Amino acid sequence: MSYWVINTVVILFILQRLVCSAIAGAYITGKATCFNFLEFYADGVRYEHYNDNNWKYFTVATIPSSTKVVAARCENPKGQCGLKIFLSNGVNTDTSWKCSDNEEDGWNTVRFDDSNWKNAKMVPRAPNFIWTSDDKFARGAIYCRKSVRAGSNHRNASYRKSNIVINSCDPSRYLKTIYTSWEMDCSRACTRKIDCSRYLYCSGDASCKLYRDGRDCIMSGDTTGCSCYTQVIHCEDSGCTCPLGQYGEGCQDTISDCTEGPQKGLRSTGDVLTNIKPLTSPDSFEVLCTFGDGGWTGILARNKDCLYENFNRTLEEYEEGFGNVASNKWLGLKYLLYLLDNPNSTYSLRVVLIKPDSSTCVSQYTNFVIGNRSTSYRLYISGFDGNGTTCGDSLTGTINLNNNPFSTYDADYTGTFECTKRFGAGWWYDSQDNCTSSLLTGTMDSSGIDNFWETDLSNSPLNQIHLLLQKK
Ligand SMILES: *[C@@H]1O[C@H](CO)[C@@H](O)[C@H](O)[C@H]1NC(C)=O
Ligand SMILES: *[C@@H]1O[C@H](CO)[C@@H](O)[C@H](O)[C@H]1NC(C)=O
Ligand SMILES: *[C@@H]1O[C@H](CO)[C@@H](O)[C@H](O)[C@H]1NC(C)=O
Ligand SMILES: *[C@@H]1O[C@H](CO)[C@@H](O)[C@H](O)[C@H]1NC(C)=O
Ligand SMILES: *[C@@H]1O[C@H](CO)[C@@H](O)[C@H](O)[C@H]1NC(C)=O
Ligand SMILES: *[C@@H]1O[C@H](CO)[C@@H](O)[C@H](O)[C@H]1NC(C)=O
Repeated sequence: MSYWVINTVVILFILQRLVCSAIAGAYITGKATCFNFLEFYADGVRYEHYNDNNWKYFTVATIPSSTKVVAARCENPKGQCGLKIFLSNGVNTDTSWKCSDNEEDGWNTVRFDDSNWKNAKMVPRAPNFIWTSDDKFARGAIYCRKSVRAGSNHRNASYRKSNIVINSCDPSRYLKTIYTSWEMDCSRACTRKIDCSRYLYCSGDASCKLYRDGRDCIMSGDTTGCSCYTQVIHCEDSGCTCPLGQYGEGCQDTISDCTEGPQKGLRSTGDVLTNIKPLTSPDSFEVLCTFGDGGWTGILARNKDCLYENFNRTLEEYEEGFGNVASNKWLGLKYLLYLLDNPNSTYSLRVVLIKPDSSTCVSQYTNFVIGNRSTSYRLYISGFDGNGTTCGDSLTGTINLNNNPFSTYDADYTGTFECTKRFGAGWWYDSQDNCTSSLLTGTMDSSGIDNFWETDLSNSPLNQIHLLLQKK
């Protein structure tokens, strides 16, 4: 799982900066010190850092006056020490600062909820210094933050109704549940909670679940009386935040794929549910993006820990896509074509596999494209990149799937070999005895032919599978 650690917070913050970038203004200056490693942040952006053996005061590089959260990481590898920050807007280190010994995702950003963090303790007889630790002998870093304009924000948000997907596993970023008999309270709670972007309200048990990212709600059991709402825009005094993937005044623009994310300032260390709208697609849709390493769009996700999803489906289902975006999802041949429909670009395919021992391997192909319906979604794949890839080549190796149509049980192009019938899943099978040396649409729970990737991994079923595309 660790490969897919999330940092939604940072992304949402950056989107907000995009929208707010038109707001010019004054700046805050100040000074900070700590012995002997310090990083200073304003709204998640690092402004200063040093590592030396002196108590050094630096002048905080002018930070925007619209700054909402200042944060510092201070480390004394030898034990306890003090941290002092003095800002021109009157903010000093005092007991109203919140501190933690742990670096949590997005800890230095606006959207982080620090209500579980401890209040800082003052160093006796050293004005404005706060301890970096309760323990004289503790080593390691402390993370401290302070909301600069706490309480002054008026928030509002608008929502639109979204879909409920039935699945027993929801790996999307769940925040918390509150209970209320008024749906309006649920919407208000989401608006008040700075990192909430979606909610699921069920009148039956009066539950209101808040989520950080995503657009559709995932639940199991009886959906009667339940409704899912997703934020269209979220505003505060200082500006508005768009749903992930959308940008512009009023959030009217959407990135065309995850590769465009980093160009629009989006960052993440793992995967996040994001809206995209490829050039020729009439509507936007939700995909799993990773914005690291140039940005990659998820087209297939499998997760053994989540509910079994039937992959023995008809061609029409493979065209439209099925499953739960965050865990067991086939994006759909139709959507795949929208993503690939750009005459000026070529696409790379990345295969990320998490093996039964939880280790991750990656294989990459420089050229990936599929034909349209009239060529039975034929696969054109080449350029296996042996450099640094660790899963080996099970797509164009011994059995080369290049130039093969996509087969399903109701449209099988493998003739007498009957590959779909034998493997029970849609795939680009080769018309030969063994059909394929990889099957990433196989079952995950041994109820049929399990997924496999033969080269370098033998036949052991995988814990997670991700197929990702990058535009070049
Ligand atoms: C929401 O807040 C923004 C920024 O404070 C403001 O411009 C907008 O008018 C508000 N909208 C509503 C419906 O209150
Ligand atoms: C492809 O490139 C040409 C020439 O630069 C440009 O006119 C056209 O708009 C581009 N098409 C797309 C879909 O980006
Ligand atoms: C399908 O692809 C072929 C060859 O690339 C092209 O000639 C044809 O117009 C396409 N059909 C559709 C419906 O897009
Ligand atoms: C292989 O990967 C390394 C590290 O990413 C890179 O420096 C090197 O140029 C690559 N070699 C080839 C032949 O692509
Ligand atoms: C796949 O589904 C079809 C249609 O329901 C069925 O006939 C076939 O036996 C299934 N194949 C496997 C391997 O489960
Ligand atoms: C097909 O699989 C069998 C059994 O694993 C193996 O002995 C044979 O070499 C394979 N044939 C090809 C063409 O890969």
